[in-house]
Amino acid sequence: MIRNRRLRLMASCSAFILSSFASLPTAAQDAENGKEVYGPCAACHGDLGQGGKKGEYPRIAGQRPSYLEQQLRLFRDRKRINFPMFPTTEHRDFPDKDLLDVVAYVASIKLSTKVPEFKDTDDALTRLLAMEKVMIIPRAEGDVEKGKVHYHEHCQNCHAKDGMGRSDFPMLVGQYTNYLMKQMKAYRAKERPHDEDAPGGILERFSEEDLQDILAYLTSIQPKDN
Ligand code: HEC
Ligand code: HEC
Repeated sequence: MIRNRRLRLMASCSAFILSSFASLPTAAQDAENGKEVYGPCAACHGDLGQGGKKGEYPRIAGQRPSYLEQQLRLFRDRKRINFPMFPTTEHRDFPDKDLLDVVAYVASIKLSTKVPEFKDTDDALTRLLAMEKVMIIPRAEGDVEKGKVHYHEHCQNCHAKDGMGRSDFPMLVGQYTNYLMKQMKAYRAKERPHDEDAPGGILERFSEEDLQDILAYLTSIQPKDN
């Protein structure tokens, strides 16, 4: 009887540990190792995960951890095809531990949309380092009002009202506009699966102009301080 109780307790404990791992990879990961694994990624995604080449390399800083994990697994399994990503995600050099540590590191990097106020005494290096953390996406062309209606009707239940994503659904606000458009075209061309609603997903229901309006709306709702 006692033994059974203990077993039950152990079972529920390990279920708890497993579920907290699944939802909170950040807490359990090794930040130092994550930073080290990130080294070669910085060549393309920038020192702070802010991306580069105007969105050819996406921003990954502050992205949802479960989404980052899922995408890195897809690159590693060569299920999401992108050649620049392949050399740093070779199965034999990129074990699960490194993958989860780098995810925790990247997800924890906070970029701001607010230009800091400097004191006269701040030197050039202090200013430069603070400015590197500022990432403001320029306003995209398009009809913001129409984009808002589409976004609230068709996107926010997954990507969240503020566009910051939730659970496995990625953050869209704060990402380069041309990168988002490229991905929406990839989903529509069925190169990436978006959601379970028909092969190309919900994005097939929109014209390119509608999608551009949604992008315009997303660039209009960047938080003032995050
Ligand atoms: C040689 C350049 C290069 C290197 C090095 C690189 N990446 Fe990437 N990465 C890219 C490109 C390009 C894309 C966009 C792919 C696309 O357009 O679909 C990308 C996409 C991603 C994405 C998906 C982002 C999203 O919003 O869907 C993640 C996550 C990512 N990279 C993480 C990493 C990590 C972690 C490393 C290091 C282990 C790394 N990358 C190394 C070029 C690179
Ligand atoms: C049913 C949930 C759901 C809805 C509704 C939804 N999305 Fe998504 N979206 C997802 C998921 C899941 C992903 C990641 C899929 C993957 O693994 O590539 C995603 C990814 C994306 C991406 C790529 C992000 C990146 O970093 O690569 C864009 C862009 C996007 N969605 C735009 C939209 C827009 C615009 C709408 C509304 C018209 C929308 N989504 C509605 C679930 C949804």
